[in-house]
Amino acid sequence: MQKNKSLILGITGGIAAYKVAELVRLCIKADIDVQVVMTESATQFITPMTMQALSGKPVFVGMWDSTIDNGMPHIELSREADAILIAPASAEFIAKLLHGRADDLLSTLCLARNCPLLVAPAMNKQMWENPATQRNFAQLKADRIAVFGPGNGEQACGETGDGRMLEATELLAHIKAHFTPKIFANKKILITAGATIEMIDPVRAITNLSSGKMGYALAQAAADMGATVTLVSGATQLPAPFNVNMHHASDAASMHRIVMENVSDQDIFIGVAAVADYSPNEVANQKIKKHEGSLTLHLKRNQDILATVANLPNPPFCVGFAAESERVIEYASQKRIEKKLPLIVANEVNSAIGRDENQVTLIDKNGNHALARNDKYKIAKAIMQHIQQML
Ligand code: PMT
Repeated sequence: MQKNKSLILGITGGIAAYKVAELVRLCIKADIDVQVVMTESATQFITPMTMQALSGKPVFVGMWDSTIDNGMPHIELSREADAILIAPASAEFIAKLLHGRADDLLSTLCLARNCPLLVAPAMNKQMWENPATQRNFAQLKADRIAVFGPGNGEQACGETGDGRMLEATELLAHIKAHFTPKIFANKKILITAGATIEMIDPVRAITNLSSGKMGYALAQAAADMGATVTLVSGATQLPAPFNVNMHHASDAASMHRIVMENVSDQDIFIGVAAVADYSPNEVANQKIKKHEGSLTLHLKRNQDILATVANLPNPPFCVGFAAESERVIEYASQKRIEKKLPLIVANEVNSAIGRDENQVTLIDKNGNHALARNDKYKIAKAIMQHIQQML
């Protein structure tokens, strides 16, 4: 089994410190071990006890901690870490980092580190815009220190602008991307996700229960693995994945059009969307009125996007999905052969659609590979690793 990644989370003095309580919880859920180190000023904003309770480990603040065996926490802690993230990183702490100063445990740890340093700035808009901060920010990049954010929006001081720290979920996305080996660097991947909506009249439509979670997780995993990802999304309630080029498609016809406009230079195409197989022959301009008796809708077959792409003269590596309610493997295997796909991912519809977790079987010419039930991001990573092996 793969060893968990371990992160030192350095908290400096700033009101955004409250956000890292949630970040620690999210990291632990994502199998990232967190060791919290705080500056004295950070303890004015959030208590070490809160951070200890959430991380499950004692929090270090002072330089002279006798509980560390060799009495050198600045060396000892960074030896065990895969990365150090400073969040929130105050303007003062960033300035200190850039001058190689080491007058407390956290700054000493950063100077003595032998792992990557990641920084999430958080400060008032004027402080952020100050030329001194901007110079420091440029120098951070030149020193190959990764900078996450800052974001734009309302600030604790009442002003609005650049400088606020990214939200915990955004920071987690950056951390996961940082820890993921870039096995798809220089690859272009086109993915469809979510449900299509086929309008009947201005208020009614034919759609399905796909939430987009599986397709978005694949887009995020592929981007984290270094790919240039284009996501063609049907209807979802999800925020856009980070570092992904987004297109929105309302129905099967527009999804088909957008895919065909973008497919020519792609290395891989993955069809995760639940595309409607049929749509109304005609969309009524006005709301259809009720009458006695039944209503008959005339439907036409939609074009199969995946089959069209797989049949291009020089197709990308095509991966399909099949959500079946019975004889899952048998039907999915048939679809793989009919659509001429090197790989199809089979899932049982009720345990997949709309859920945060999934259980899938990967079917290729060498047979079936069942993956254990897991959250969709982890399943997505496993699918991408399988694709990489096949390539
Ligand atoms: O979105 P979630 O809530 O996370 O749920 C994920 C999922 C269950 C929707 C997903 O894992 C899944 O299985 N997607 C495929 C749904 C399906 O069964 O599609 P299908 O059997 O109709 O089509 C097979 C393949 O052809 C799919 O890759 C589909 O994207 C593609 N297709 C189908 C019809 C069509 N007109 N064009 C297509 O490209």
